[in-house]
Amino acid sequence: MSLEVLAERSAELFAKGFGEAPRWIVAAPGRVNLIGEHTDYNDGFVLPMAIDRYTVIAADRNSLRQVIAHSDTTGETASFSVRPPIPRGTPGWSNYLRGVIAGFQALGRKIGGFNAVIDSEIPYGGGLASSAALEVATATLLEVMHGPALPPVEKALLCQKAEHDYAGVPCGIMDQFTSVLAQKDHALLLDCRSRTPQLVPMSDPGVTVLIINTNVRHKLAEGEYAKRRTECETAARILQVPALRDATLADLEKARPRLDPVVFRRARHVITENQRTLDFARAIQASDWPEVGRLMYASHHSLREDYQVSCAELDALVEIARSLGPDQGVIGCRMTGGGFGGCAVCLIHTDAQRRLTRKFEELYEARTGNHAPIYSSRPGGGARVLKP
Ligand code: GLA
Repeated sequence: MSLEVLAERSAELFAKGFGEAPRWIVAAPGRVNLIGEHTDYNDGFVLPMAIDRYTVIAADRNSLRQVIAHSDTTGETASFSVRPPIPRGTPGWSNYLRGVIAGFQALGRKIGGFNAVIDSEIPYGGGLASSAALEVATATLLEVMHGPALPPVEKALLCQKAEHDYAGVPCGIMDQFTSVLAQKDHALLLDCRSRTPQLVPMSDPGVTVLIINTNVRHKLAEGEYAKRRTECETAARILQVPALRDATLADLEKARPRLDPVVFRRARHVITENQRTLDFARAIQASDWPEVGRLMYASHHSLREDYQVSCAELDALVEIARSLGPDQGVIGCRMTGGGFGGCAVCLIHTDAQRRLTRKFEELYEARTGNHAPIYSSRPGGGARVLKP
């Protein structure tokens, strides 16, 4: 579905639910990370791009000092008062709105009540940053309702804080940053310390990004995420560096006797993944596809063995990609996002897309008994106002 059609659908739903056309419509994209996984909260490098799948919010003011928001995805309606302090509450997804509104209030902005319909094409819990898209769409709505617009980095940080404080996930900055700042036909090489993005052109029509959804989400995901973050902080403390970004493999080797073996492996993943991300950005700009593929498989291997955030279904997809190989048009493949399910990202030669899509579906189903939805996406732009 195109963004225009999604926007129209949300406007219709709004009119049906609230009896008039929405005053505003805003959209924010999900993202897929090409490489640089679990490096953002270590002040490292990531290389995501926005996908052309969005969360859309159609809205208008109300006079109730209440948010009344209907999610077409879950069929639930959230209603809560905007009087500060806004508590956490139900349904679960309303916390993303609550957190972002609280963030604007903390900046001194007076937020009034509004009615909203939320519609999304980003699979929930699929590792494509559906929660960041909802936060960023909410922030974009509040900017048009109660302007002026925030500086983009400040907006991304406000959304990240909403996720920390209201959803209890100590995430890094990658997802919110991409949803705010992405540029069409480009990936973003983001230095998560300086928070400066460098645009990496990705406009070669001969190469396509496939996103293959395992269609599973293992329960471990959130608790294990927080645990990894703590393990990285422990490693940095023992290595006496501000963040793992500052450590080399030689430093790590030297400290090995003082490190718990698990913590050692976590740190090894982060240190090597940072280097792979920089190498990948260079390789993609040189259209060096064998090197791009090598780095993607190496990243997956490191996430599976050292960081231990993969799962059987993600491994199955990466093995299928490897077995099809360059002869059949596969450049490389790896898990993407936090892990424990969700999606794999696969770079392929565009002329093989049809055949490869069929093959992935067939082989994944044969191995796991699950159906894998497959999307392809060009790198899209960041959040925007569709009806100002
Ligand atoms: C989740 C988090 C991001 C990042 C990735 C792993 O998507 O929200 O900040 O840490 O996991 O790379």
